[in-house]
Amino acid sequence: MLRVEEQQPVDFSSALLAKFDEIVKRYPEGKQKSALLPILHEVQAEQGWLSTSAMNRVADYLDIQDIEVYEVASFYTMYFLKPQGKYMLEVCRTGPCCLVGAEKLMNHIEQKLGVKEGEVTPDGLFSWRGVECLAACGYGPVLQIGPEYTFYENLNEQKVDDLIEDLRKK
Ligand code: FES
Repeated sequence: MLRVEEQQPVDFSSALLAKFDEIVKRYPEGKQKSALLPILHEVQAEQGWLSTSAMNRVADYLDIQDIEVYEVASFYTMYFLKPQGKYMLEVCRTGPCCLVGAEKLMNHIEQKLGVKEGEVTPDGLFSWRGVECLAACGYGPVLQIGPEYTFYENLNEQKVDDLIEDLRKK
């Protein structure tokens, strides 16, 4: 089989593999590909992102082509195809939030963290990015912080600074 291999082979924990088995059982016999999305979420929760090696191993597990995993993982923005900070700040950048300062807030986060969108701070703690509507348009600017996706509304620069400092202390 032709496949893209990375230098570092990936190891999945036995707990993660047990989760795979449990997820696959939710679907009819022969339809194990339906388990792909939840399995990728579990891999990302354990590994922090989806490396090519990890996606190849998922393809092996589900007995599907590597490309079928790459296609799904690269389509959905909640899957990360490169390492991210421990905390991912996602700021809504859609119109209504921009009208109340989302762009200013993103500029502030870039200055505060000292990294551009999609980059990781040197301590490995933070990444940030703009995302589309987070469905709280009347309460902007809003952001969510992964991996738990905790949600914050009516933000300003001071509130964001406080959030970042609280995360640093964790
Ligand atoms: Fe920001 Fe909808 S436009 S939450």
